[in-house]
Amino acid sequence: MSDIARDDSGLPTAAHREVANSSLFFKRWLANPLQMGSIIPSSDTLCRRIAALVERKDDEVVVELGAGTGVISRALLAAGVPPEKLVVVEIVRDMAEHLRASLPGVNVIQGDAFELAKALPAAMHGKVGTAICGIPLVLLPQADQQRFVSAVEAVAPGKGFLLYTYCITSPLPYRKLGLTAKREVWTPLNFPPASVWRYQPAR
Ligand SMILES: C[S@@+](CC[C@H](N)C(=O)[O-])C[C@H]1O[C@@H](n2cnc3c(N)ncnc32)[C@H](O)[C@@H]1O
Repeated sequence: MSDIARDDSGLPTAAHREVANSSLFFKRWLANPLQMGSIIPSSDTLCRRIAALVERKDDEVVVELGAGTGVISRALLAAGVPPEKLVVVEIVRDMAEHLRASLPGVNVIQGDAFELAKALPAAMHGKVGTAICGIPLVLLPQADQQRFVSAVEAVAPGKGFLLYTYCITSPLPYRKLGLTAKREVWTPLNFPPASVWRYQPAR
């Protein structure tokens, strides 16, 4: 995804280039396009719009699932999430290593978001303010989407999650998954244009 941050001359900023590491991103897309779901990282605009939706009490963490090269993580830090209160989960080892190197102080977990209860330290269970998902859930069968919903519910009961996507309509069959859905953001300043949906357990 892009519309990479630009300086006054219209060139991408050094900070965004450094953290976005588009070549690593593209390499991973070539290796496993369904797992990546995108050929380039999210745009600066989309990252900032996601960060603005985050809610967190002082003792709560923000959990980002499918952090890629860390462009959203960086926006979350810039929006005021303390590094020690940010947990990023990324399944690909090379990307997790890049995240550790480029985001000092952030809790980087190389692991599977579908096994979140195992991946996340027990002390953080029930202490998740906001969960953000970048995993291309729309490409998965409903049974796997349900597994993801349950994985988040296990560590963040009642909270649900934010999901960014290129779909204009809901990327998840939310009623079938026992969720409510609200589109919070749509921006053309991403390639392709993107939306952010908030899903919560239906009461
Ligand atoms: C669309 S990319 C988003 C990357 C980044 N957040 C961004 O906005 O540019 C999806 C990311 O999810 C990761 N991913 C896919 N399946 C995963 C899983 N089961 N657990 C954790 N991460 C996963 C991929 O490796 C990839 O980095």
